[in-house]
Amino acid sequence: MALADFLAELEQLASEAEAAFAQAADPAALESARVEFVGAKKGRLKQVQQGMRSVEAADRPAAGKQLNDAKNRIEQAAQQAQQRLNSSDQQTAAKPAFDPTLPGVRPRLGRLHPITQTIADMKDIMGRLGFTAVEGPEIEDDWHNFQALNIPLEHPARDPLDNFYLATAAGSTGAGAEPTLLLRSQTSTVQIRVMSETPPPVRIISLGRVYRPDTADATHYPMFHQIEGLLVDRQVTMADLKSVLRMFCQSYFGGQDVHIRFRPSFFPFTEPSVEVDMNWQSGWMEMGGAGMVDPNVLQAVGYDPEEVTGFAFGLGVERICMRRHGIQDIRDLYTNDVRFLQQF
Ligand code: PHE
Repeated sequence: MALADFLAELEQLASEAEAAFAQAADPAALESARVEFVGAKKGRLKQVQQGMRSVEAADRPAAGKQLNDAKNRIEQAAQQAQQRLNSSDQQTAAKPAFDPTLPGVRPRLGRLHPITQTIADMKDIMGRLGFTAVEGPEIEDDWHNFQALNIPLEHPARDPLDNFYLATAAGSTGAGAEPTLLLRSQTSTVQIRVMSETPPPVRIISLGRVYRPDTADATHYPMFHQIEGLLVDRQVTMADLKSVLRMFCQSYFGGQDVHIRFRPSFFPFTEPSVEVDMNWQSGWMEMGGAGMVDPNVLQAVGYDPEEVTGFAFGLGVERICMRRHGIQDIRDLYTNDVRFLQQF
């Protein structure tokens, strides 16, 4: 055999062997590559080596040198493959085995906003006292927000500085314009909506947002929530109002001995009208307004003031929630800082 042929055969063998070892992906593949190329009996290296005998005697030293080089290359490729498989073995061994019996990690779930929680609590308590929760729209008209509540056209409560009027199609805003729409400034609007549609007796609460153009500070915000209560029936008195408010506060603040104080006040839609204070933790806290539904209001919705009487109240939800949780600044409720919200 010519030297050149022998060398070509060697080169072919060495590069095929290198490729086979480099591709061996697991110990079984590595072993079969070993058997194929460097197997002691039928290995291809052995066979090529036998061919050396037929090379001219003068060329044999050169052929032998090349044969050794080829052996080294193949051996090296085999070793590299072995190392590669060993180290990936260790990597899998280093990973802790998955143990399905270990307790799982609790996912961090979202939670309800403190005001949403407060509203749910209030609905629950008032529900047990027999009050049904109803909803009303946040965009109101003049009739429900003012007129039917005994707030006449010239009344200062309609001042554009105290209300968020909406621009009308005609481009005009403010009191007297037709039709006047505004973001409701109180939930008392819902009283009118309910009484206009239902004959007495009624016993409802309504919880929702109200809007007033106040500058935000620790106790004011241009949007806040009210809980409105309305009970109309035969022979309803202020004593009923006081008892309901007291039971409500006592339940909400956890069964403590809560007292309710009335201070004389004025609202166009109640007569008499009072400011409601609650004593809690050695102090009086203002909760909102209340009173006996004004006969003019009963008449406006078609009730007979000679037949039925009623009480109504409107309390600030934020104030009550803040008091319960020791929140100092109403703005914290609407900054949406999760570090704050997570605490509830
Ligand atoms: N609507 C009044 C307010 O916003 C509160 C109130 C409600 C007063 C019901 C009396 C009766 O301040």
